[in-house]
Amino acid sequence: MSDPVFLIQKLEQTHSLRPEEYELLLRARNETLTALLQERAVAVRKAVYGNAVFTRGLIEISSFCKNNCLYCGIRRDNPKAERYRLSPEEILSCCREGWALGFRTFVLQGGEDPFFSDELLTSLLRQIKQNYPDCAVTLSLGERSRASYERLFEAGADRYLLRHETACKSHYERLHPAELSWDHRMQCLRELKEIGYQVGCGFMVGSPGQTERELAMDLKFVESFRPAMCGIGPFIPHRDTPFADCPGGSVALSCYLLSILRLIQPNLLLPATTALGTLDPLGREKGIQAGANVVMPNLSPVSVRKKYALYDNKICTGEESAQCRSCLSQRMDSIGYQLVTDRGDPKVF
Ligand code: 5AD
Ligand code: FES
Repeated sequence: MSDPVFLIQKLEQTHSLRPEEYELLLRARNETLTALLQERAVAVRKAVYGNAVFTRGLIEISSFCKNNCLYCGIRRDNPKAERYRLSPEEILSCCREGWALGFRTFVLQGGEDPFFSDELLTSLLRQIKQNYPDCAVTLSLGERSRASYERLFEAGADRYLLRHETACKSHYERLHPAELSWDHRMQCLRELKEIGYQVGCGFMVGSPGQTERELAMDLKFVESFRPAMCGIGPFIPHRDTPFADCPGGSVALSCYLLSILRLIQPNLLLPATTALGTLDPLGREKGIQAGANVVMPNLSPVSVRKKYALYDNKICTGEESAQCRSCLSQRMDSIGYQLVTDRGDPKVF
């Protein structure tokens, strides 16, 4: 009953485990189980998505943030963070360059910056959708009101990424100041789904105070929430945050979790994140080989890239968009996968 190999079989067949079973599977992690999970995850991903790896062009539109998350380099109370915002014209020019490079999804991501009002964003969304009707637009702009999410959806936004960060309320409170609430984060996620967005949630691996118990809660949350996407990557300390001296997360545990997530939801969109590539030069390849199927290279103007520093030593801050695209394409080829020119919607499963 508590044999981890049995739990992996059960997970593949039923796509569900009890929280204490997830916890056991995490605590039992060793090379044999890693290899088994990886093999099953790759088989499942192959059955749903073949060898295709979806790609999204990430445009980091603002490094201003009114929040103060303890882990994040662009938190309000970091006076050393360099702040910038892209103009609508600059964002549109990133899309133009991205479209020519084969991107069919643009992700507009930024800190919680009130400058990006509903008026500004709806007008920008309409222009992007008018210029590129074959593209999906994803927003990743944090917590907003339901009315705002509705207006942005009506203006053409297809998807919204809002990591839940941790499914454990007390752990959330350890990672965030008192003014941020876990209940509100969860409410936003529910609202986004009700409105009709393809929703992405996600969490950091190895964040301060996280144990197998919290991770088991994250897995159970994903299992019940059924997001379109789940972004996970190792926590990486940023030198100018309260967590500067905390240890970072591990690539191996992140990959183990990617494999489990693939078995929980075979059609789940799982990015091999930049944080993985930052901790390990082959991190993104390892993520794909563990069951991920998405990469999200940077399309931001090179002049601002270093300023969007959520954590230390972030990769791809000096490369042009075209370089990142061809670099990733080669990396995927080298492990037998293909970057595709496609919106990359989840397959119906
Ligand atoms: N290390 C790793 N990931 C981080 N994020 C923010 N700060 C860090 C960090 N120090 C992640 C959060 C956020 C996403 C945009 O980036 O999960 O939701
Ligand atoms: Fe940016 Fe490799 S993906 S340089």
